[in-house]
Amino acid sequence: MTIGSTVRTLLGPRLEQVAANAYRRMFVDLDTVAATVAGLGSFENVIEVGCGEGALMTRLLDALAPTAQGFGIDIAVNPGHNYAGNNTNVEFRQADVADIVGEGRRFDLVVVSDVLHHIPPADRRGFLESCRSLLAPGGTVVVKEWVRRRNLAHAAAYGSDRYISGDTTVAFYTESELERLFADVFCHNRAPFSRAYARPHRNNVILAASVAGGED
Ligand SMILES: C[S@@+](CC[C@H](N)C(=O)[O-])C[C@H]1O[C@@H](n2cnc3c(N)ncnc32)[C@H](O)[C@@H]1O
Repeated sequence: MTIGSTVRTLLGPRLEQVAANAYRRMFVDLDTVAATVAGLGSFENVIEVGCGEGALMTRLLDALAPTAQGFGIDIAVNPGHNYAGNNTNVEFRQADVADIVGEGRRFDLVVVSDVLHHIPPADRRGFLESCRSLLAPGGTVVVKEWVRRRNLAHAAAYGSDRYISGDTTVAFYTESELERLFADVFCHNRAPFSRAYARPHRNNVILAASVAGGED
């Protein structure tokens, strides 16, 4: 059992959510992430790959049009268990991104937030290529990632993932490493992409691109 899961068990479900939100806020303001995504356009059909407990999905569906439909997937058990929004326009499923690609479902917005650093570096390109395959033509992809910087915040984030969450393989990109892979997979190094930062640390990088033809 990790330190994080022990604390969660001791707190119980209601306090766990309060504590998880407060803890996460020390690293990233998810409201800023959701507002940045909503500012990119109007989206109706949204998938979050690696949605975890549903904290970002709660804010995303709140920030998007009331008609937007959300689909959250995660390889971990019980995805979306802390989702706190309207249950009629959201679905969560424990699934791998490749399963959803195989089902032929396509989305006008694909969001990947703080997932890459949990995936072994050799598998990241393939993972993002599968995310690209989920895009409908003209769809938008957003990758939000914590990047490595020489600051105290990064030392705290690394310690949190490595020792509190217990992810022994966690590994962070620098901002330029992240941009290079993002541009390569989603823009084929031609189309432009946008960049934003989420409070409270510039380690929170948000990259977004519209992919003209969906898969090409
Ligand atoms: C830090 S949480 C981020 C949760 C949510 N996206 C957010 O920003 O609030 C990282 C999540 O990525 C998930 N994850 C890791 N590897 C994954 C993969 N290959 N496919 C889907 N989810 C994955 C983990 O299970 C975990 O729930």
